[in-house]
Amino acid sequence: MCGIVGFIGKNDARKVVLNGLTTLEYRGYDSAGIAMKHDNSIDVFKDKGRVDHLRSISKVDYISEIAIGHTRWATHGVPNKINSHPHTSNSGRFTIVHNGVIENYKMLKLDKLSGFSFHSETDTEVIVNLIQKYSDKGMETERAIRTAVSMLEGSYALLILDKESLDRVYFAKNKTPLLIGKSSKGITIASDTLALVGNSDEYVHLEDKTVGFATYNEIKATDLIGNSIYLRYKDLNINPDNVGKGDYEHFMLKEINEQPGIIRNLIERYFDEDGTLLLEENLLRQIRESDHIYIAACGTSLNAGYVGKYYFENLCKIPTDCLIASEVAYQIPLLSKKPFFIFVSQSGETADLISVIKICNELHIPNLAITNAPLSSIDNLADSVMHLHAGKEISVASTKAYTAQVVTFSILARGVAMSKTSLKNNLNTLALAIEELLSNKKIIKSVAERFIEAKNAFFIGRGLSYYACLEATLKLKEISYIYCEGYASGELKHGPIALIEPGIPVIAIIANESTNAITRNNLVETQTRGAIGVVISTKSCSKLDDDIIVPDVASYLTPVITVVASQLLAYYSAVIRGHDVDKPRNLAKSVTVE
Ligand code: M6R
Repeated sequence: MCGIVGFIGKNDARKVVLNGLTTLEYRGYDSAGIAMKHDNSIDVFKDKGRVDHLRSISKVDYISEIAIGHTRWATHGVPNKINSHPHTSNSGRFTIVHNGVIENYKMLKLDKLSGFSFHSETDTEVIVNLIQKYSDKGMETERAIRTAVSMLEGSYALLILDKESLDRVYFAKNKTPLLIGKSSKGITIASDTLALVGNSDEYVHLEDKTVGFATYNEIKATDLIGNSIYLRYKDLNINPDNVGKGDYEHFMLKEINEQPGIIRNLIERYFDEDGTLLLEENLLRQIRESDHIYIAACGTSLNAGYVGKYYFENLCKIPTDCLIASEVAYQIPLLSKKPFFIFVSQSGETADLISVIKICNELHIPNLAITNAPLSSIDNLADSVMHLHAGKEISVASTKAYTAQVVTFSILARGVAMSKTSLKNNLNTLALAIEELLSNKKIIKSVAERFIEAKNAFFIGRGLSYYACLEATLKLKEISYIYCEGYASGELKHGPIALIEPGIPVIAIIANESTNAITRNNLVETQTRGAIGVVISTKSCSKLDDDIIVPDVASYLTPVITVVASQLLAYYSAVIRGHDVDKPRNLAKSVTVE
């Protein structure tokens, strides 16, 4: 979603901010803008479109040492130049960029800002004019900002320039990430660690309700009353070389290819030499003692959660439910007497899930987060954490995080069950199997070419393969824009078969011998009605003319290998259609608004 970068220092601030915004492009956005100090004034450039477009419209013949920039993912108001950030207060004194959503902005407009005029449809203009209002009443800028943000309900990460004190960038933060990075080059303030790489040696995550300012050699942070906050910096250990896409055409393809390495990495972290699991006994005991596990997540993380449910129920014999985070936040299901919650999130910043964690914490329900983002909000809020160690996932379509999540669930479930299964060997086999599949990508590409005209599609499967279908479907939808449904194959006859018409691809995932024949029957029923039948099967379940045959792995790990095949199918379907694979339309990498 929206991205923020500000810089004050020795380097050309415009360049640092534009490069920072480029690294944040993966989060998804529709407009971009920048404000820079120019002598005693502030120049603003903004428009709908990509950062490259902003780069060309913001060319100037001076070098500014202070700039703030923004990529906007539209929430209030359509994507256009007027709604793009930065926004300037009525007097022209204050200029602001904002991530987040202000829930009471309409009320504030009416109650506090009569006499002010508004040019955009955004909630952000309310903030910058509130700051102006309190500054006009004689408050010095820091206090005016604290007074203004105290009135805001909702989330904000703000960077503000004041024409009267152009030696500094003001900032404020609540419920949406904001970090400060520093080095001898200067100070960078951004919504994501990636935007700090290259210009910062150390960084700090700001706490909610922090307000302050940064000059070239001073950073001051306070709470909303004005009490000083001590900032604890950590080393920024991100190698700039790992942030690029190397020789791959897209980040998605790079991330798909990283999956065997990630599995091996997880093996190394969670098993010792003789196969003993390295997990916190306290955590395992808490889960064992619970009478019901609830897995809450969104999107791909939820689809990995369904596989986790299978593990907990089959291996640990603990009833488990998967909950759509955005639903739980508004309708808590009837919980068991001794619940345990697991939150799954690649980004660690998904707003819908954060709401659920807060509810759980208020109810004192023990919980665990499985996340790829150390130091993220979800990482901070949960009682315990298991990290995915998958490296930054840049492509909006999640791939390697899914695999890491399923593998982490398999490790955790084995620990809870105290089982002696040969999980370590099975995971090593899985890594090898994915490598073999990746060396046969051409076959998958040719399958994608077979349904180039398709506008709709189905994935069908049973049991664990039904869960794989849910993830396969999400991938195909997101990047190829083919409308697609994942169905338990037996359910087709109960309604959706009415949608089958000549030329529609129906892709069956077959990875279990006991449901092999029946799933094939369901596929034939659609082919009889004109569907293009495609089979993704494991070697031991395969028939000679199956389209994509993946190597055999332990049955409980088949939702990984079959999903990797479907990730590639979605990838090639999107490439063939000429879509922007890594930045699909309307989507954001981390969904920080509810
Ligand atoms: O960062 P999270 O895992 O919490 O994100 C959840 C979903 O927003 C995410 O999985 C989304 O569905 C992806 N675009 C899927 O590819």
